[in-house]
Amino acid sequence: MLAAVAVRQNPDDPLAGLELREVPAPKPPEGWAVIRVVAAALNHHDLWTLRGVGHPADRLPIVLGCDAAGIDEDGNEVVVHPVIGDPAAGGGDETLDPGRALLSERHDGAFAELLCVPRRNLIPKPASLSFEEAACLPVAWLTAYRMLFTRAAIRPGDSVLVQGATGGVASAAIALARAAGAKVYATSRTEAKRATALTLGAHHAVPTGDRLPEKVDVVVETVGEATWAHSLRSLRPGGTVVVAGATSGSNPPADLSRIFYLQQRVLGSTGGTRDEFVALLRFIENAEIRPSVDRVLPLTQIHSGFEAMLGGHLAGKIVIRPS
Ligand SMILES: NC(=O)c1ccc[n+]([C@@H]2O[C@H](COP(=O)([O-])OP(=O)(O)OC[C@H]3O[C@@H](n4cnc5c(N)ncnc54)[C@H](OP(=O)(O)O)[C@@H]3O)[C@@H](O)[C@H]2O)c1
Repeated sequence: MLAAVAVRQNPDDPLAGLELREVPAPKPPEGWAVIRVVAAALNHHDLWTLRGVGHPADRLPIVLGCDAAGIDEDGNEVVVHPVIGDPAAGGGDETLDPGRALLSERHDGAFAELLCVPRRNLIPKPASLSFEEAACLPVAWLTAYRMLFTRAAIRPGDSVLVQGATGGVASAAIALARAAGAKVYATSRTEAKRATALTLGAHHAVPTGDRLPEKVDVVVETVGEATWAHSLRSLRPGGTVVVAGATSGSNPPADLSRIFYLQQRVLGSTGGTRDEFVALLRFIENAEIRPSVDRVLPLTQIHSGFEAMLGGHLAGKIVIRPS
C-alpha cells in the first residue's frame, strides 16, 4: 500500500525526508486491530519528526500521521485515540506512562490506506461528524481539551487567553473555552487570522504581544518563545499558564521573579487519555461545535499540504484521504 514515510531528518528542509512509497500491509499483533483510514490530518508533530526534534533517527523509516478516522474490520466507523500507552503504568493515566508514544513515534502512523493500533484506541466516530472532521480531533482537540479542563481546570466565567489564534491546538482551545462559558481572548499576527479567531469563538482578538483589557485566569500557550513573556504579563496573580508546545522556540527567559512573586502556576500538558477523548467527542456533539477543515488532499499531494502548513496560512486542519 502507498504511505507517506519519514525516511530522513533535516532541520532546515523537513520535507526532503518525506517520501511516498509502497510499504507492506500491517499484520496486527494480539489485541491490535487494522482499520481502513478514510481521513488523516496533518500536525506540526509530523514536521518535528522530519526535522529530527523529539524523534530519534534510529526509529526511521516510519509512516507519519498521528490523526485518523476510518472503518474497522467489522465495518464500524471509528476515530483513533492517538496515545499508545498503558494506563496502569501511568498511575491510571496513559499520558504519564513513561513508555507511552503518540501514533507515528514508535508505531507506523495514519498516512496510509491501513493503520494498525491497539483495539482500545478505537473509539466510535460521532455520527454527526464527517470522517474529515473527526480526523481533526485526536491530537489538536484532545490536547486543547486536557489543557483547559484537566490541567488548568477552567470554570465557567474564567477568562482565558489563547496564544496564536489559528493553530490546531489554539483554534480548538478557543472553541472549547467559549463553549465552556469562558471569556476568550486570542492573539494573532495578522488581521485576517484575528477575524478567524472571532468566528471560532473568541470575544476579543488582539495583535500578538498587545496588552489585554484585563489580566486573565488562564493562558493556553503553544507558541513558545515568541509569546511567553506576554503570556506571563497577561496572567493575574495566582493564574495558570498551561503549555503544550513551543512552535517558535522552547527556551524563552523564564522570568522566575514574576512567577514566584505573583504566585503563578506553569503547567505542562501532553495529549490526553482515552477517557478524555471520549468526553471531548461528547462535548463536541453536545455543544454542536465542528472543527474547521482548511482543505482535503489526496495522499499523493501531502507535500503541498505540509508546505501550506510551513507557510503558516491555514484556516483549520489539512486532511489527507489515503485512498
Ligand atoms: N503536547 C502535545 O500533546 C501537543 C499536541 C499538539 C501540538 N503540540 C505542539 O503545539 C505547537 C502548536 O501546534 P499546532 O499544530 O497547534 O499549531 P500550528 O499550526 O503550529 O500553529 C502555530 C500557531 O502559533 C503561532 N505562531 C507560530 N509562530 C509564531 C511566531 N513566531 N510568533 C507568534 N506566533 C506564532 C501562529 O499564530 P498566528 O499565525 O495566528 O500569529 C499559529 O496560530 C507545536 O509546537 C506542536 O508540536 C503539542
